[in-house]
Amino acid sequence: MIGNKLINTTFKISAKINLPIIARTLKIHEQFPDYINSLSKNLPPRTLLYVPGDSKKKLQKSTQFKCDLIAFDLEDAVIPEQRSIARKNVLEIVSKKSDIKFENPNQLIIRFNEVQKKEGKKDIEAFLRPEILSQNQFSGILLPKVENFEDIFLIEKKIKECKKKLKIYATFETAKGIVNIKEILESNGARHEMLRGLVFGAEDYSASIGCKRTPSGNELLFARSSIVLHAAAYGLESIDMVNIHFKDDSKLISESLDAVNLGFTGKSIIHPKQIQIVQNIFSPSKSEIDNAIELLRKFEANNKGVLDFHGISADVPVVKAAIRVLLRAQIDISKV
Ligand code: COA
Ligand code: MG
Repeated sequence: MIGNKLINTTFKISAKINLPIIARTLKIHEQFPDYINSLSKNLPPRTLLYVPGDSKKKLQKSTQFKCDLIAFDLEDAVIPEQRSIARKNVLEIVSKKSDIKFENPNQLIIRFNEVQKKEGKKDIEAFLRPEILSQNQFSGILLPKVENFEDIFLIEKKIKECKKKLKIYATFETAKGIVNIKEILESNGARHEMLRGLVFGAEDYSASIGCKRTPSGNELLFARSSIVLHAAAYGLESIDMVNIHFKDDSKLISESLDAVNLGFTGKSIIHPKQIQIVQNIFSPSKSEIDNAIELLRKFEANNKGVLDFHGISADVPVVKAAIRVLLRAQIDISKV
């Protein structure tokens, strides 16, 4: 009896002390549902590899690559005289009339020519037809040199007429494109429902504004940050420029780290040897993951607004950054 009384008393005391705290302690995934929902819809591609459409050899070879996204190119990787051959090669593949078989249509997009110009119109006519789209052999269109809301709107309209949905990636690579980003993404309150990501094209942009390329890359910073900023504001992916020094791994590594630091979700590439390097850099490392898990656990246990985390004042934005790392690593936050 005495024992029971003691147990009951102890229980009552601890219940009095603990209950309010338990009631207030939410798991991390319950504390930031909007933030988590805004990030976890799609895992963004880390790499976007260009494959010139006029090279059957490269088209064939690309079917083996473990790259997140592959763009069969009908535009600037192909000289004008070869554009119709490139179009024919790619058309044969996506209409299953070629001996080149692309296993994963989700991985495959096609870069059109400028949609308001002659070659771009031919691309639209060739690919955005019900007979082609109904075969579901590719999942998106990459648009070059986007400068107006209509450039994207026109493509969406054509896809809708075929009663289909595709991912659209828009490349910003001219002075006008960068200056107009917001108006291109939103016009009179209308937005593009199929737009998935914004891509930065450094070479055309440099030619457009007349800047000189320097090792620091300072001349590109405003445009690159504008892409990241607008992509984040509109819930889109952001894919950084190509590194044309494809034989120099150290340049690729530093440029990719810089892109991650700026906030890009992925990077354009041109050579298969760049795939693994870039994908590794855009994937959270083991130490980043361990660090994020430790932070979330301690923040939850601490149950205050701010935590001293190894000398860092960790508050909500720091916790959100840790959540982003774990989502990117495809870790279930509710189980952390
Ligand atoms: N897609 C598919 N395969 C590619 C490729 C690509 N982008 N780039 C190289 N390869 C293949 C080559 O055909 C070669 O195949 P093999 O081993 O069977 O002969 C292999 O990968 C190694 O290539 P390598 O010999 O080192 O390079 P290359 O001289 O053949 O090509 C480039 C160099 C830059 C011309 C080539 O990488 C390329 O065409 N890149 C795409 C450029 C582009 O699209 N630019 C426009 C977008 S900004
Ligand atoms: Mg370009």
